[in-house]
Amino acid sequence: MDFSNVYKDDKRADAYSKLQFPGTYYLAFRDLPAIISEHVTGKEALDFGCGSGRSTRFLQKLGFRVSGVDISEAMTRKARDIDPKGNYYVIEEGDFSQFKEGSFDLILSAFPFDNIPTMEKKVMNLRGLRNLLSNEGRLVNLVSTPEIYTHEWTSFSTKDFPENKDARSGDTVLIIQMDTENKEPVEDILWTHESYLETYDRAQLEIVSAYHPLAKDDEPYEWVNETEIPPWVVYVLKRSGHL
Ligand SMILES: C[S@@+](CC[C@H](N)C(=O)[O-])C[C@H]1O[C@@H](n2cnc3c(N)ncnc32)[C@H](O)[C@@H]1O
Repeated sequence: MDFSNVYKDDKRADAYSKLQFPGTYYLAFRDLPAIISEHVTGKEALDFGCGSGRSTRFLQKLGFRVSGVDISEAMTRKARDIDPKGNYYVIEEGDFSQFKEGSFDLILSAFPFDNIPTMEKKVMNLRGLRNLLSNEGRLVNLVSTPEIYTHEWTSFSTKDFPENKDARSGDTVLIIQMDTENKEPVEDILWTHESYLETYDRAQLEIVSAYHPLAKDDEPYEWVNETEIPPWVVYVLKRSGHL
């Protein structure tokens, strides 16, 4: 498959690094502090797919000691520019050998699985992350729902891509990020809940909880579909028993 990570591009990295938590992104992060405090004990965290460090700094503010890893040099460079004291590492895909197994209380993965193309690659990455979790550790996997690619949103548009409606799990879908200056579509990989169930099972992970945040009318955004249709899923995962 000739799927390529759009975030290796300097222009995309520059645009993304200016992104904070507007609109639909606000909804992705809104409930994370409560979810994390309910499920996570301990303060050692890894931010998988840290990009330009937005999610890493988010965890720092929650009091975690965080390392961020990403396969994109361009994104990681931006993270270091913004936060020179932070720990940001470029890794070869799936290579977590610099970290000790069982050493993280929390692994946050905010969006990278939308860009990891195949079942094999998803499982390989998840297995590696699973092994880094402490016994009570939790992996919080924030991903897009399939519906995000077939509706309009405060921060995203998909109306120019009617073919997204026919996409099946594993197919490439297109979406435009409205909050960045780069309006070229992002290529993501559609992955259904059923596919995630199979992926987690193969990676020896078990779902503890799954959240589908919906927006509220009194929030300071012009919501489009966010009050009715969840654009994101937050999976809280733990190591499963069967090895
Ligand atoms: C949409 S960005 C999100 C960045 C950050 N987590 C945030 O919320 O701002 C997704 C990031 O995942 C990274 N990524 C994609 N595949 C990856 C992989 N296999 N391993 C590590 N990072 C990956 C991309 O390079 C990109 O920086």
